[in-house]
Amino acid sequence: MPPEPARLIAAAMAALAFANAAADEGNAAQADGIERGRYLVTIMECAGCHTTGTLRGQRRLDGYLAGSETGLGGVAPQGATNGGAVFPPNLTPDRETGLGSWTDEQIGRAIRFGQRPDGRILSPVMPWPIYGNSLSEADARSIVAYLRTIPTVRYKVPENFTPGEPPTGPYLVIVGP
Ligand code: HEC
Repeated sequence: MPPEPARLIAAAMAALAFANAAADEGNAAQADGIERGRYLVTIMECAGCHTTGTLRGQRRLDGYLAGSETGLGGVAPQGATNGGAVFPPNLTPDRETGLGSWTDEQIGRAIRFGQRPDGRILSPVMPWPIYGNSLSEADARSIVAYLRTIPTVRYKVPENFTPGEPPTGPYLVIVGP
């Protein structure tokens, strides 16, 4: 016997309510992840390095996590004019100058293991050796989820330079007494 139309409608409505509840739960879980990511990025102070001006004590409010114009320099080896420097890159979703074209997994791997998609291992000035030992995969995912929501800023940081190469931008160095 075919089901009565009323029963069919009731079943369809129940299915719809279930689907909506599942979608709401999914959205809530995603919102929780983003909120957790915002919290972690704040207390881990990614912006301390990845926001222009912060390393000089003047954080630019319109370029949050859009990279630093100031690099972090190394100790010059004997005979070299400088020790090279690395520039904290743009973490906003810009596709060309930020992380917009990276997959979630690629960003997570850079944060926890220092591996860039092109195979280069990041300088440990980026504290990935610490993050790799202390940050859970779920927390790394939350950080990535949050980074996807920050305003996109187009800004390319200066290229890193190796010891003795001409500096590509200003950089901080430790000077002895
Ligand atoms: C002490 C400074 C410092 C802190 C704090 C820091 N970073 Fe970095 N980060 C760097 C530097 C410098 C590089 C580039 C290193 C290199 O090129 O070898 C980098 C690279 C990266 C990269 C690779 C980007 C690319 O284009 O290659 C990602 C992703 C990243 N950091 C995310 C984060 C996140 C997320 C946080 C906070 C949880 C964070 N960083 C905290 C300094 C820092």
